[in-house]
Amino acid sequence: MSDASIRIALVGGGVGSFIGGIHRMAAQLDGRFALVAGVFGRDPAKSRVRGREWGVPIDRIYADHSELIIGEAQRQDGVACIVIATPNESHFAIASDALRAGLHVICDKPMTATLEQAELLVPIVAASRGIYALTFTYTGYAMVREARARIAAGDIGEVRKIVVDYPQGWLSNGAGDAQIWRLDPARAGLGGCAGDIGVHAFQLAEYVSGQRVTELNAMLSSMVAGRRLDDDCNVLMRLTNGGVAVLTASQIATGERNGLSIRVHGASGTLAWRHEDPAVLRIDRGNGRSELLHAGAPDSCPAAKRATRLPMGHPEGFIEAMATIYRDVADALLGTAPSLIDGEVPGVTDGLRSMRFIDRAIVSNRHGRWTSMEERP
Ligand SMILES: NC(=O)c1ccc[n+]([C@@H]2O[C@H](COP(=O)([O-])OP(=O)(O)OC[C@H]3O[C@@H](n4cnc5c(N)ncnc54)[C@H](O)[C@@H]3O)[C@@H](O)[C@H]2O)c1
Repeated sequence: MSDASIRIALVGGGVGSFIGGIHRMAAQLDGRFALVAGVFGRDPAKSRVRGREWGVPIDRIYADHSELIIGEAQRQDGVACIVIATPNESHFAIASDALRAGLHVICDKPMTATLEQAELLVPIVAASRGIYALTFTYTGYAMVREARARIAAGDIGEVRKIVVDYPQGWLSNGAGDAQIWRLDPARAGLGGCAGDIGVHAFQLAEYVSGQRVTELNAMLSSMVAGRRLDDDCNVLMRLTNGGVAVLTASQIATGERNGLSIRVHGASGTLAWRHEDPAVLRIDRGNGRSELLHAGAPDSCPAAKRATRLPMGHPEGFIEAMATIYRDVADALLGTAPSLIDGEVPGVTDGLRSMRFIDRAIVSNRHGRWTSMEERP
């Protein structure tokens, strides 16, 4: 750890968990953050095992996030930032307590478990001295940033239609015990598939296109008997500029792994990106010509170059995409570049909109009608 590193604590990331370990690697990839404290799961004994495995001093492995905030505040070398990688139910409490204690927050999506909590968190962020960033990981891919910059620059003309699809198959049958919280409304929030991956698709559509969804018509289903939350979502959406979007997300798409993809059709061309081939952006022109742009290409936009570490053809993936978000947050914290938070890097604005997406999709599905993104049910 260098003296210049930003000291972080991780909440989540216990043995057998998924995203906490990715945060740990991503945060440290560019040498700007050091993981020095944490609560690595709800079982204190297992948390200590994990923390020691990751080189965290035993006296900085805490029983819960409240103890962590108090303990770190008492140290001269206390953490500056807390990373939240717990199930959705605890995002609000950890983020609000940390912000009120003067810490910066990097939280995984969704912002909170409910829209009401997200609405409460916005003024807490505004009143704090802290930075609040949300790790919508796909926004860290070079070619996603390239697509966003090209559309903003008018490369495919006026956006007319977006097709975003996020198929997974891992909930086609049962879920493993460790993941069971995703099917429990008390822990996941009101959205199942909508809240877990539908939010990624929604956020990506708005992020890449620069458009905002004005209203939606959703059909949410629970295909596997006994489920209390949706495991399949089909949503039609209207955009600010009169364009349309189709969003499908599913966790019962048998055999699918993590095949997020997006196509944006403009008046003069189409941009297409696939997570399973993330270093390539396809551009189809109306004149019968197509281009494949590869991450690292010399004529990539500055935002894509900033998100690329390796020469062309050397694969970068999920960890690097997350690391790019961390690098942008570090720039904001250290003042080494203008802050991109709540712009190129998702913050409360994208967080709140994606929570509203879940909420309105549930309302629309319940009443079987178009529902405004602004409307209060
Ligand atoms: N950005 C992404 O691409 C992405 C991918 C996967 C998950 N996520 C999000 O990250 C979060 C975690 O997902 P996951 O897949 O890692 O879940 P997981 O179930 O694999 O892991 C959650 C971990 O948090 C621990 N935990 C639970 N409550 C805690 C608490 N109060 N304090 C400390 N630790 C606690 C659990 O013991 C476990 O170790 C979820 O909100 C999920 O939506 C984001």
